[in-house]
Amino acid sequence: MSKSFPPLPDPDELVERKSAKNIRSMFDAISPTYDFLNHLLSAEMDRLWRRTLAKRVLASQPQRILDVCTGTGDVIFAIAKQAKKQELSPQYVGADFSLAMLRQAHEKSRRQGALSCSPTFIRADTLHLPFPEKSFDLVTVAFGLRNVENLERALQELARVTHPGGQLAVLEFSNPRMPVVRRLYHIYFHHILPAIGWLISGTKAYLYLPKSVSKFPDGKEFATILERCGWINVAVTPLTGGIATLYLGNRS
Ligand SMILES: C[S@@+](CC[C@H](N)C(=O)[O-])C[C@H]1O[C@@H](n2cnc3c(N)ncnc32)[C@H](O)[C@@H]1O
Repeated sequence: MSKSFPPLPDPDELVERKSAKNIRSMFDAISPTYDFLNHLLSAEMDRLWRRTLAKRVLASQPQRILDVCTGTGDVIFAIAKQAKKQELSPQYVGADFSLAMLRQAHEKSRRQGALSCSPTFIRADTLHLPFPEKSFDLVTVAFGLRNVENLERALQELARVTHPGGQLAVLEFSNPRMPVVRRLYHIYFHHILPAIGWLISGTKAYLYLPKSVSKFPDGKEFATILERCGWINVAVTPLTGGIATLYLGNRS
Protein backbone atom coordinates (compact mmCIF):
# COMPACT_ATOMS: atom_id res chain seq x y z
CA MET A 1 0.00 0.00 0.00
CA SER A 2 0.98 3.64 -0.34
CA LYS A 3 2.27 3.87 3.22
CA SER A 4 5.21 1.57 2.44
CA PHE A 5 6.70 4.19 0.06
CA PRO A 6 9.19 6.81 1.38
CA PRO A 7 7.67 10.10 2.62
CA LEU A 8 6.91 12.62 -0.13
CA PRO A 9 8.50 16.07 -0.33
CA ASP A 10 6.47 19.11 0.61
CA PRO A 11 3.91 19.89 -2.18
CA ASP A 12 5.08 23.54 -2.45
CA GLU A 13 8.65 22.38 -2.89
CA LEU A 14 7.55 19.84 -5.50
CA VAL A 15 5.74 22.50 -7.55
CA GLU A 16 8.79 24.79 -7.43
CA ARG A 17 11.33 22.07 -8.24
CA LYS A 18 9.81 19.18 -10.17
CA SER A 19 12.61 16.70 -9.83
CA ALA A 20 11.92 13.52 -11.76
CA LYS A 21 12.82 11.43 -8.73
CA ASN A 22 10.30 13.15 -6.45
CA ILE A 23 7.52 13.18 -9.05
CA ARG A 24 8.07 9.48 -9.70
CA SER A 25 7.98 8.71 -5.97
CA MET A 26 4.71 10.59 -5.66
CA PHE A 27 3.05 8.60 -8.44
CA ASP A 28 4.50 5.34 -7.14
CA ALA A 29 2.93 6.14 -3.78
CA ILE A 30 -0.54 6.98 -5.07
CA SER A 31 -0.69 4.26 -7.75
CA PRO A 32 -2.91 1.82 -5.77
CA THR A 33 -5.68 4.40 -5.35
CA TYR A 34 -5.00 6.55 -8.45
CA ASP A 35 -7.88 5.38 -10.65
CA PHE A 36 -10.40 5.26 -7.83
CA LEU A 37 -9.57 8.80 -6.72
CA ASN A 38 -9.49 10.12 -10.30
CA HIS A 39 -13.05 9.01 -10.90
CA LEU A 40 -14.28 10.00 -7.45
CA LEU A 41 -12.68 13.44 -7.27
CA SER A 42 -13.73 14.40 -10.80
CA ALA A 43 -17.23 12.94 -10.39
CA GLU A 44 -16.36 10.67 -13.35
CA MET A 45 -15.69 13.66 -15.61
CA ASP A 46 -12.18 12.35 -16.30
CA ARG A 47 -13.75 9.50 -18.28
CA LEU A 48 -15.79 11.97 -20.31
CA TRP A 49 -12.70 14.08 -21.07
CA ARG A 50 -10.65 11.09 -22.24
CA ARG A 51 -13.60 9.92 -24.36
CA THR A 52 -13.76 13.37 -25.99
CA LEU A 53 -10.03 13.15 -26.74
CA ALA A 54 -10.47 9.65 -28.17
CA LYS A 55 -13.29 10.65 -30.51
CA ARG A 56 -11.41 13.69 -31.80
CA VAL A 57 -8.11 11.95 -32.50
CA LEU A 58 -9.56 8.94 -34.31
CA ALA A 59 -10.89 11.13 -37.11
CA SER A 60 -7.44 10.94 -38.72
CA GLN A 61 -7.35 7.12 -38.37
CA PRO A 62 -3.86 6.90 -36.79
CA GLN A 63 -2.05 3.57 -37.08
CA ARG A 64 0.72 4.02 -34.52
CA ILE A 65 -0.23 5.68 -31.25
CA LEU A 66 2.04 6.69 -28.37
CA ASP A 67 0.57 7.78 -25.03
CA VAL A 68 3.20 9.34 -22.76
CA CYS A 69 2.81 9.82 -19.01
CA THR A 70 0.37 6.98 -19.56
CA GLY A 71 -0.01 6.17 -15.87
CA THR A 72 -2.58 3.40 -15.56
CA GLY A 73 -3.22 3.52 -19.33
CA ASP A 74 -6.66 5.12 -19.32
CA VAL A 75 -6.09 7.24 -22.44
CA ILE A 76 -5.13 4.12 -24.39
CA PHE A 77 -8.17 2.23 -23.13
CA ALA A 78 -10.45 5.16 -23.99
CA ILE A 79 -9.05 5.35 -27.54
CA ALA A 80 -9.21 1.56 -27.93
CA LYS A 81 -12.88 1.55 -26.96
CA GLN A 82 -13.76 4.15 -29.60
CA ALA A 83 -11.46 2.50 -32.16
CA LYS A 84 -13.25 -0.79 -31.70
CA LYS A 85 -16.61 0.88 -32.38
CA GLN A 86 -15.16 2.31 -35.59
CA GLU A 87 -13.53 -1.02 -36.53
CA LEU A 88 -10.06 0.52 -36.39
CA SER A 89 -7.14 -1.41 -34.92
CA PRO A 90 -4.12 0.83 -34.35
CA GLN A 91 -1.02 -0.20 -32.41
CA TYR A 92 -0.64 1.33 -28.95
CA VAL A 93 2.43 2.11 -26.89
CA GLY A 94 2.13 3.56 -23.37
CA ALA A 95 5.21 5.09 -21.71
CA ASP A 96 5.67 6.22 -18.13
CA PHE A 97 8.56 6.43 -15.67
CA SER A 98 6.63 5.08 -12.68
CA LEU A 99 6.81 1.29 -12.53
CA ALA A 100 4.04 1.17 -9.95
CA MET A 101 1.67 3.06 -12.28
CA LEU A 102 2.66 0.80 -15.19
CA ARG A 103 1.89 -2.25 -13.07
CA GLN A 104 -1.68 -0.96 -12.67
CA ALA A 105 -1.83 -0.41 -16.45
CA HIS A 106 -0.69 -4.00 -17.12
CA GLU A 107 -3.21 -5.38 -14.69
CA LYS A 108 -6.00 -3.36 -16.30
CA SER A 109 -4.93 -4.41 -19.77
CA ARG A 110 -5.19 -8.04 -18.68
CA ARG A 111 -8.67 -7.46 -17.24
CA GLN A 112 -9.84 -5.52 -20.31
CA GLY A 113 -8.87 -8.34 -22.69
CA ALA A 114 -12.18 -7.88 -24.51
CA LEU A 115 -10.86 -4.66 -26.01
CA SER A 116 -8.02 -6.72 -27.52
CA CYS A 117 -5.90 -3.61 -28.07
CA SER A 118 -2.77 -5.33 -26.62
CA PRO A 119 -0.86 -2.16 -25.74
CA THR A 120 2.87 -2.28 -25.13
CA PHE A 121 3.71 -0.52 -21.87
CA ILE A 122 7.27 0.62 -21.39
CA ARG A 123 9.18 2.46 -18.71
CA ALA A 124 10.49 5.69 -20.22
CA ASP A 125 11.01 9.34 -19.37
CA THR A 126 8.99 11.66 -21.62
CA LEU A 127 12.08 13.85 -21.96
CA HIS A 128 14.14 10.99 -23.44
CA LEU A 129 11.90 8.66 -25.41
CA PRO A 130 13.52 5.46 -26.69
CA PHE A 131 12.04 5.75 -30.20
CA PRO A 132 13.49 6.88 -33.53
CA GLU A 133 12.25 10.08 -35.18
CA LYS A 134 8.81 9.97 -36.86
CA SER A 135 7.76 6.71 -35.19
CA PHE A 136 4.13 7.64 -34.45
CA ASP A 137 1.08 9.12 -36.23
CA LEU A 138 -0.48 10.24 -32.97
CA VAL A 139 1.00 11.18 -29.61
CA THR A 140 -1.24 11.78 -26.62
CA VAL A 141 -0.67 12.97 -23.08
CA ALA A 142 -3.29 13.47 -20.38
CA PHE A 143 -2.58 15.21 -17.08
CA GLY A 144 1.11 14.47 -17.52
CA LEU A 145 2.96 17.48 -18.96
CA ARG A 146 2.25 19.52 -15.83
CA ASN A 147 4.61 17.22 -13.99
CA VAL A 148 7.63 17.14 -16.28
CA GLU A 149 10.84 18.92 -15.35
CA ASN A 150 11.06 20.82 -18.64
CA LEU A 151 7.82 21.40 -20.55
CA GLU A 152 9.34 22.72 -23.79
CA ARG A 153 11.87 19.91 -23.98
CA ALA A 154 9.05 17.40 -23.53
CA LEU A 155 6.99 18.98 -26.32
CA GLN A 156 10.02 18.98 -28.63
CA GLU A 157 10.69 15.34 -27.80
CA LEU A 158 7.06 14.50 -28.66
CA ALA A 159 7.50 16.37 -31.96
CA ARG A 160 10.67 14.38 -32.68
CA VAL A 161 8.90 11.01 -32.44
CA THR A 162 5.83 12.16 -34.40
CA HIS A 163 5.56 11.83 -38.16
CA PRO A 164 5.28 15.19 -40.03
CA GLY A 165 1.56 15.94 -40.27
CA GLY A 166 0.92 13.57 -37.36
CA GLN A 167 -1.18 14.66 -34.44
CA LEU A 168 -0.66 15.63 -30.82
CA ALA A 169 -3.47 15.62 -28.23
CA VAL A 170 -2.90 17.10 -24.80
CA LEU A 171 -5.51 16.91 -22.08
CA GLU A 172 -4.75 18.99 -19.02
CA PHE A 173 -6.45 20.73 -16.13
CA SER A 174 -6.94 24.45 -16.65
CA ASN A 175 -8.28 27.40 -14.73
CA PRO A 176 -11.98 28.14 -15.40
CA ARG A 177 -12.55 31.68 -16.73
CA MET A 178 -16.14 32.31 -15.55
CA PRO A 179 -15.99 34.02 -12.11
CA VAL A 180 -18.74 31.86 -10.50
CA VAL A 181 -17.34 28.56 -11.75
CA ARG A 182 -13.85 29.75 -10.86
CA ARG A 183 -14.77 30.58 -7.27
CA LEU A 184 -16.70 27.35 -6.57
CA TYR A 185 -14.04 25.30 -8.28
CA HIS A 186 -11.30 26.98 -6.25
CA ILE A 187 -12.99 26.02 -2.96
CA TYR A 188 -13.42 22.42 -4.09
CA PHE A 189 -10.02 22.02 -5.74
CA HIS A 190 -7.90 23.69 -3.06
CA HIS A 191 -9.72 22.57 0.10
CA ILE A 192 -12.10 19.63 -0.32
CA LEU A 193 -10.19 17.59 -2.91
CA PRO A 194 -6.84 17.54 -1.02
CA ALA A 195 -8.62 16.43 2.16
CA ILE A 196 -10.41 13.53 0.46
CA GLY A 197 -7.21 12.66 -1.41
CA TRP A 198 -5.24 12.57 1.84
CA LEU A 199 -7.84 10.40 3.59
CA ILE A 200 -7.90 7.82 0.82
CA SER A 201 -4.31 7.83 -0.52
CA GLY A 202 -2.62 8.56 2.81
CA THR A 203 -0.38 11.12 1.03
CA LYS A 204 -0.20 14.87 0.47
CA ALA A 205 -0.10 14.32 -3.31
CA TYR A 206 -3.54 15.88 -3.70
CA LEU A 207 -2.22 19.16 -2.29
CA TYR A 208 0.34 19.17 -5.11
CA LEU A 209 -2.43 18.76 -7.73
CA PRO A 210 -4.21 22.16 -7.34
CA LYS A 211 -0.93 23.98 -6.71
CA SER A 212 0.63 22.57 -9.88
CA VAL A 213 -2.47 23.38 -11.95
CA SER A 214 -2.54 27.02 -10.85
CA LYS A 215 1.11 27.44 -11.92
CA PHE A 216 0.74 25.68 -15.26
CA PRO A 217 0.11 27.65 -18.51
CA ASP A 218 -3.31 27.11 -20.06
CA GLY A 219 -5.47 28.29 -22.97
CA LYS A 220 -3.73 30.61 -25.44
CA GLU A 221 -0.56 30.68 -23.37
CA PHE A 222 -0.17 26.90 -23.66
CA ALA A 223 -1.09 27.03 -27.37
CA THR A 224 1.75 29.52 -27.95
CA ILE A 225 4.20 27.17 -26.25
CA LEU A 226 3.00 24.32 -28.46
CA GLU A 227 3.62 26.45 -31.54
CA ARG A 228 7.14 27.26 -30.35
CA CYS A 229 7.90 23.56 -30.00
CA GLY A 230 7.11 22.28 -33.49
CA TRP A 231 3.30 22.07 -33.48
CA ILE A 232 0.94 23.82 -35.91
CA ASN A 233 -2.88 24.09 -36.44
CA VAL A 234 -3.25 24.24 -32.67
CA ALA A 235 -6.89 24.05 -31.52
CA VAL A 236 -7.92 24.75 -27.94
CA THR A 237 -11.17 23.25 -26.59
CA PRO A 238 -12.17 24.03 -22.99
CA LEU A 239 -14.13 21.19 -21.35
CA THR A 240 -16.66 21.38 -18.50
CA GLY A 241 -16.50 25.16 -18.09
CA GLY A 242 -12.71 25.18 -18.54
CA ILE A 243 -11.86 22.82 -15.68
CA ALA A 244 -9.93 20.84 -18.27
CA THR A 245 -8.77 21.73 -21.78
CA LEU A 246 -8.09 19.62 -24.83
CA TYR A 247 -5.29 20.87 -27.09
CA LEU A 248 -4.87 19.40 -30.57
CA GLY A 249 -2.05 20.13 -32.97
CA ASN A 250 -0.15 18.75 -35.94
CA ARG A 251 3.54 18.11 -36.35
CA SER A 252 4.96 20.80 -38.64
C1 LIG B 1 -1.54 12.48 -13.36
S1 LIG B 1 -0.86 11.02 -14.03
C2 LIG B 1 -1.73 10.87 -15.56
C3 LIG B 1 -1.92 9.44 -15.98
C4 LIG B 1 -2.80 9.23 -17.20
N1 LIG B 1 -2.27 9.89 -18.37
C5 LIG B 1 -4.23 9.62 -16.97
O1 LIG B 1 -4.85 10.18 -17.88
O2 LIG B 1 -4.76 9.33 -15.90
C6 LIG B 1 0.73 11.58 -14.54
C7 LIG B 1 1.65 10.45 -14.96
O3 LIG B 1 2.78 11.02 -15.60
C8 LIG B 1 3.94 10.29 -15.23
N2 LIG B 1 5.09 11.17 -15.45
C9 LIG B 1 5.31 12.40 -14.93
N3 LIG B 1 6.46 12.91 -15.41
C10 LIG B 1 6.95 11.99 -16.28
C11 LIG B 1 8.10 11.94 -17.11
N4 LIG B 1 8.98 12.94 -17.14
N5 LIG B 1 8.29 10.84 -17.86
C12 LIG B 1 7.41 9.80 -17.83
N6 LIG B 1 6.31 9.78 -17.06
C13 LIG B 1 6.08 10.87 -16.30
C14 LIG B 1 3.69 9.90 -13.79
O4 LIG B 1 4.47 8.79 -13.39
C15 LIG B 1 2.20 9.60 -13.80
O5 LIG B 1 1.95 8.24 -14.06
